[in-house]
Amino acid sequence: MDDVSRETPPVPDSARGVFGVRWPQAQAYADLLATEGELRGLIGPRELPRLWQRHLLNCAVITDLIAHGSRVADIGSGAGLPGLVVAIRRPDLDVTLIEPMARRTDFLGEAVDRLGLENVRVLRGRAEEVPATEAEFDVVTSRAVAPLDRLSRWSLPLVRAGGSMLAMKGSSAEEEVAEHAKAMRRAGAVEVEVSRVGMDVVEVPVTVVRARKLDRPNSGGNGRAADGRR
Ligand SMILES: C[S@@+](CC[C@H](N)C(=O)[O-])C[C@H]1O[C@@H](n2cnc3c(N)ncnc32)[C@H](O)[C@@H]1O
Repeated sequence: MDDVSRETPPVPDSARGVFGVRWPQAQAYADLLATEGELRGLIGPRELPRLWQRHLLNCAVITDLIAHGSRVADIGSGAGLPGLVVAIRRPDLDVTLIEPMARRTDFLGEAVDRLGLENVRVLRGRAEEVPATEAEFDVVTSRAVAPLDRLSRWSLPLVRAGGSMLAMKGSSAEEEVAEHAKAMRRAGAVEVEVSRVGMDVVEVPVTVVRARKLDRPNSGGNGRAADGRR
């Protein structure tokens, strides 16, 4: 890791303020992604020049939508995006990274140890196979994991009643919501909305689909939400 500084991508001016007291961990994670992460094929070499803008800062700003002290699960974390960044920026959160691929969970475990993060645990497995005893998260995040219908079926069972899923999506999020609205409601989603965050931090604001889970179970299985909508 001695030649890390040569490999480290340029750091935007806003980055230090975004991470505050966790700046050393943010820098260490960026270094790890740019070295080990790239060597082990977890991040493409073409991503390195835009590591901060497109990955670390992009993921960091979604924490603006997460309440203090929340229990968070990130499904399909890959190399830790957004879950590890969320945990770095917000030590008040309790974060579980859920990822099925051993190569990726090995990297995540090593990253957690190296950065000395005490608010993160790594769970190897598919989101839909996580035991019901684990399924009481306030918030479930994801980025680039699946279309919203499947993503809702994987995320919402892990969310406590009244909690939310936060799916990072591209600029066509509204179209995707319209396409999958019915499937999302069937999975228990209510109050689906598209938010844009990070205007003052990243070049392109980050689009997040936020869906709250029904306060009480959807009885009868007729695809009808508690507010009567389909
Ligand atoms: C395209 S990668 C995105 C990784 C990371 N979220 C990011 O934005 O860089 C999709 C990730 O989802 C994981 N994945 C696929 N199916 C999954 C499932 N059923 N449950 C949890 N993770 C899953 C894959 O192993 C992979 O790491």
